[in-house]
Amino acid sequence: MKSSFASAAALIVAAANAMPMAGSSWGPQGTSELATFDDLTATPLLSELSPVGTYKGLNWAALDVLQAGVAGIEEGVQPQSGANVAVNGVTDTLLNGALSITAKTVKSFDLESAYFGCAINTLETVASVPQQCTVAFTAYKFGVASPFHTVNQSFSPSDLLNSEMTQAIFDYNYEGVDRVDVAVVGGVTPGTLVGLLIDNVQYTTYAQ
Ligand SMILES: *[C@@H]1O[C@H](CO)[C@@H](O)[C@H](O)[C@H]1NC(C)=O
Repeated sequence: MKSSFASAAALIVAAANAMPMAGSSWGPQGTSELATFDDLTATPLLSELSPVGTYKGLNWAALDVLQAGVAGIEEGVQPQSGANVAVNGVTDTLLNGALSITAKTVKSFDLESAYFGCAINTLETVASVPQQCTVAFTAYKFGVASPFHTVNQSFSPSDLLNSEMTQAIFDYNYEGVDRVDVAVVGGVTPGTLVGLLIDNVQYTTYAQ
């Protein structure tokens, strides 16, 4: 009798351990992703920046791969990891639409954190001078066209010439999103050409 109690308890513990978990809640199992852009090919010439396109389950609209150490960003906002960052606004790709991160080969995703920074562009250099800015991250859910939630995050250069990125951390409002729009909404002088640099985006994707 005693031994069958013990084995029943062991079965319950084993079953609990086998339950898939997403974050801290019960739900479908997700895939954790870290977008560093370091495994993408960057073309050093300004006019030939390559689009990030579809990468690690998501479509990164209006973002190009930019490699540090070329075209003047040996000084500026430094990548959080590796040599590459994703950048918006340093070429005319800005005209092709706002920066938007959309579930592409997955159904939805939890946006957890991202590193970002702003820099002023000049004709000679790409995103070379770190610049204070405010960036709005707007979440969309359930295929609905109106925004679900918006939060502003600030970047203040840690150094006037050579700055680290700032980490934005997102709360539960960014869980189960199908799209996040990213836009520079303040902090920069009107009319200046501002590049928005993004690196090490942490998220969890869901296939269904
Ligand atoms: C974000 O900042 C912009 C510009 O300052 C402001 O218009 C907007 O209301 C802010 N949004 C939120 C959610 O704080």
